[in-house]
Amino acid sequence: MVSFKELGLVNTREMFAKAIKGGYAIPAFNFNNMEQLQAIIKASAETKSPVILQVSKGARNYANQTLLRYMAQGAVEYAKELGWEHPQICLHLDHGDSFELCKSCVDFGFSSVMIDASSLPYEENIALTKKVVDYAHQFDVTVEAELGVLAGVEDEVASEVSHYTKPEEVVDFATRTGCDSLAISIGTSHGAYKFTPEQCTRDPKTGRLVPPPLAFDVLDAVMEQLPGFPIVLHGSSSVPQEYVDMINKYGGKLPDAVGIPEEQLRKAAKSAVCKINIDSDSRLAFTAAVRKVLAEKPGEFDPRKYCGPARDLMTELYKHKIINVLGSDGKAE
Ligand code: G3H
Ligand code: 13P
Ligand code: ZN
Repeated sequence: MVSFKELGLVNTREMFAKAIKGGYAIPAFNFNNMEQLQAIIKASAETKSPVILQVSKGARNYANQTLLRYMAQGAVEYAKELGWEHPQICLHLDHGDSFELCKSCVDFGFSSVMIDASSLPYEENIALTKKVVDYAHQFDVTVEAELGVLAGVEDEVASEVSHYTKPEEVVDFATRTGCDSLAISIGTSHGAYKFTPEQCTRDPKTGRLVPPPLAFDVLDAVMEQLPGFPIVLHGSSSVPQEYVDMINKYGGKLPDAVGIPEEQLRKAAKSAVCKINIDSDSRLAFTAAVRKVLAEKPGEFDPRKYCGPARDLMTELYKHKIINVLGSDGKAE
């Protein structure tokens, strides 16, 4: 058993309380490799933003759980080396799908876990979430739960349809499970294709897809039911069109990829939404930079020569999110 406190990590309790009060949101960035982690920490340290490092089940399988844990521990030290005196870094399990996986992460030094039982019937979601909460809280590890189902085609997190969260269920759910935060469904979804062209309109000037607005009425109703309770938004990548264009220009094929417009995320960040999940945008930045280098320099075979630019572009992206979208800069001096 390793406590997250020994690793210099923090749970989400205080982070979220401050974020709701301050009208900003904490970035939750997924990582699978060293370059992503370096970029996240550099961006957070330079902006003094609290940050949540998210590890999915797929990331654990890809990178090895032991290595990931030491990477997170190393991240705290790296942050200090960059001059961030009191780093506020949370290590979070993203979309945990079983009690055993959540327990393993708690035992392994994670400071926060998500139990995503949103695809189960309501009572089963409550029972499983409560079991995870009861275990995690013994070690001061915070727990995110989910009510409502996101649409999406992400591997491991797949659902054909989007079922908005029912505001009339949230008080009962939060009270009976004891969860610390609640992910809700208001029209976001995972991946780089969040809406079909049929769901969008087209900007006549640019020809770009314009997605439908998020269901802010559902968010408002949830906040009315649970005043001051931490709300989480998954599937919140914006799918920056400059990265999509770069990928397509240098041999990729991402037709009509579309995300959540940043102004809608800005609006959400000012509310009780205090954690915003971003993964796909980082994948797009990484891929765009790598494709560019390899297309322009076909003779290049030193991974540092293409992973380095990928890291730089991701750092720029994370800083942009922190400063211009979430407003979390300067909140962890
Ligand atoms: O919400 C899903 C995250 O983007 C993680 O995706 O399961 O492919 O690692 P993954
Ligand atoms: P995106 O695919 O929109 O980046 O969402 C990531 C996410 O919700 C991770 O849990
Ligand atoms: Zn998610």
